[in-house]
Amino acid sequence: MSRSPLKVVRGLLSEIGFSSLLFASLLLPSEALAQSPDRNEYGNPPPQVFESEDRDRWQKPEWVVEQLAIVPGTTVADLGAGSGYFTRQFSRAVGPSGKVLALDVDPTMLAHIAEDLNALELANVDTVLVPFDSPGLPDRSVDLLFLSNTLHHIENRTAYYPRMIDVLHEGGRVAVVDFYKKPLPLGPRSLSHKLARSDVIREFTWAGLHITADLEDLPHQYFLIASPIPQFLNARLVSQNLATGGHRSLADLPQPELSNNFEPQAS
Ligand SMILES: C[S@@+](CC[C@H](N)C(=O)[O-])C[C@H]1O[C@@H](n2cnc3c(N)ncnc32)[C@H](O)[C@@H]1O
Repeated sequence: MSRSPLKVVRGLLSEIGFSSLLFASLLLPSEALAQSPDRNEYGNPPPQVFESEDRDRWQKPEWVVEQLAIVPGTTVADLGAGSGYFTRQFSRAVGPSGKVLALDVDPTMLAHIAEDLNALELANVDTVLVPFDSPGLPDRSVDLLFLSNTLHHIENRTAYYPRMIDVLHEGGRVAVVDFYKKPLPLGPRSLSHKLARSDVIREFTWAGLHITADLEDLPHQYFLIASPIPQFLNARLVSQNLATGGHRSLADLPQPELSNNFEPQAS
């Protein structure tokens, strides 16, 4: 793991939950929130916070999954699965012959999902405890890597992206739903904790991920779908190998500067 739980707590200090925790955190200074018994050592609130009654209204989970046009029988990894809010949707979408991998660094979230799985009898979901610095899956093992409100938690993303790409099957995709970097009535409170849509597009492009869909229908979040460009990756590696006499992976390439631009658009 690349981050200690204490560091995660700091990183998530300003991450607010939904409904009641929203109001609680608005009233509390960050330091008080850090000590809040509502947050565990991973900086997460209780899983139920991700399941608030009003969430479906703005999160539109069924619409999100519909846009992904998931083929039954495929494998979907829900990275940073939290309470399993999207995991359940994916379980239906891939069907009995498919597989959903609920990945998280926080064992309490995975325990919550496992309980739900028993109750809902979802036999096609596995929970996987992953390290902070990698999706923790074998190479070429998933068709879709999905991150809802999670990409902004990942540090050192330039090293992380090649690992994301490695776990994709040929033709695989990455999808990101995350909060716009602007003041919003919900989601992370601190702007510095958010990741602008434009930065995700720039970072993905750098990593060799081509944006295939840029959906603007969610009120508070961007929704991007991307696929690796094999020629791009090969060309980059070959040119680096020629120039340096032997880089082996994208992780060895010079790192771009990752800024935290504010959202340019007013939406
Ligand atoms: C804000 S919650 C989002 C949960 C869920 N995706 C949703 O939309 O309800 C972020 C989740 O990502 C997990 N997380 C944070 N850093 C991670 C990392 N590097 N790899 C995997 N999961 C991570 C946290 O433990 C937490 O469960």
